[in-house]
Amino acid sequence: MTDMISLKDLQVQFLAPGKVIRAVNGVDLQLGLGEVVALIGESGSGKSVTLRSIMRLHSERSTRISGTLQVDGQDVLAMSSRELAALRGNTVAMIFQEPLLALDPVYTVGAQIIEAIRRHKKVSAREARQQALALFEKVRIPSPERRLDAYPHEMSGGMRQRAMIALALSCHPKVLLADEPTTALDATVQIQILLLLRELQRELGLSIVFVTHDIGAAAEVADRIAVMYAGKIIEQGPAAQLLTQPRHPYTLSLLKSRSHGALQKGRRLDTIGGAPPDLSNLPVGCAFGERCQYAVPACHTAVPPEQSLGAGHSARCFRLHEIALAPA
Ligand SMILES: Nc1ncnc2c1ncn2[C@@H]1O[C@H](COP(=O)(O)OP(=O)(O)OP(=O)(O)O)[C@@H](O)[C@H]1O
Ligand SMILES: [Mg+2]
Repeated sequence: MTDMISLKDLQVQFLAPGKVIRAVNGVDLQLGLGEVVALIGESGSGKSVTLRSIMRLHSERSTRISGTLQVDGQDVLAMSSRELAALRGNTVAMIFQEPLLALDPVYTVGAQIIEAIRRHKKVSAREARQQALALFEKVRIPSPERRLDAYPHEMSGGMRQRAMIALALSCHPKVLLADEPTTALDATVQIQILLLLRELQRELGLSIVFVTHDIGAAAEVADRIAVMYAGKIIEQGPAAQLLTQPRHPYTLSLLKSRSHGALQKGRRLDTIGGAPPDLSNLPVGCAFGERCQYAVPACHTAVPPEQSLGAGHSARCFRLHEIALAPA
C-alpha cells in the first residue's frame, strides 16, 4: 500500500529556558492511501504536536525535529520553504480545533473560500463562487447560497466547522489532518462532523488523520486507532481489534475509564489515576510505569520496544503476553 504519511522515530523537542520539552519521543506511524487513522490519548500526550510537525508548522528556531517524516513519498524535513508552501497549499490541509481562529471574522465565509480558490487556480470570480458553492454542498451545508454570504459569527459551531472543512478542501488536498475537529461542539454534532469526514474520504479518496477524545467516534469512523502516551504511540491497530482486544495497560485503563467499558458515542476520556510524566524530565523506563498496575522492576529500567501482535496490531509493553492472559 502507498503510504501517504510515513513517520519513523519522529522526535520533536521544544527548547525552553533551562530545559528541553520532549513532546514527541519516537513516533512510528504510517497512513496508507485512503486510510483514516484516529489518534487518541490524554491531554498533553503529543497528538497536536505530531500533527503540526507533519506540516512543519513549529517554529524552526526553538524546535528540534528528527527522524523520518515523509508525506506522499517526499522528505518533509529536507524541504525548502518553497516546497513547504506547496506541501501546505496542495498536498496536506489541516482543520484546527477552533474554526473561529482559522476563519477571519471580518470577511464572509464565502469570500474567504473564493479567495483561497483563486489563490490556487486562475479562475474568474464567478467561477470561483460556483466552486465555493459546490464545496458548501459537498460538506452538506443547508441553504449553501445564503450561507456563503454569512460572517463566521453568524454561523452555528457545527456549520462553522463544515465551512472550515470546505476551506480545507478548496486546495484539493490528498491528506487531511483534523485536530480534534469537534471538541467545542456537542456530542451529536461531533459525530456528524466525523462521519462527514469519513464520507468525504470515500468521495474524494482522501487520507485522514484525526485527533479525538471520543473513543466511540474513533471506533465508528477510523480504520485504525493509535494511542499516544508521553509522546509515543504505545499501541496501534485496526480500530475494532484495538477496542475489543486492547493489550497495553494504558489502553486498558483508557477503555475502563469509560462507563462499563462500553462503546458509547460522545463520551470523553475520563482521567485515569495519577499524572503523565514531566516531558522535560522523562523517566528512564516506560513512561507509563509509575501509573501502571502491571509494572515490574524491568519497566523502570528500559523503554519497551514496539512488539507486533499480528494483523497490524502492535504495542510497547514488556508484559504484553502476561496481560493478555489476565481477565480484563
Ligand atoms: N510550542 C511549544 N513549546 C513548548 N511546549 C509545547 C509547545 N507546544 C506543545 N508543547 C507541549 O508539548 C506537550 C504536548 O502537547 P500537545 O499539544 O501535542 O498535546 P495534545 O496531546 O494535543 O493534548 P490535548 O488533548 O490537550 O490537545 C504538552 O506538554 C505541551 O505543553
Ligand atoms: Mg491537542
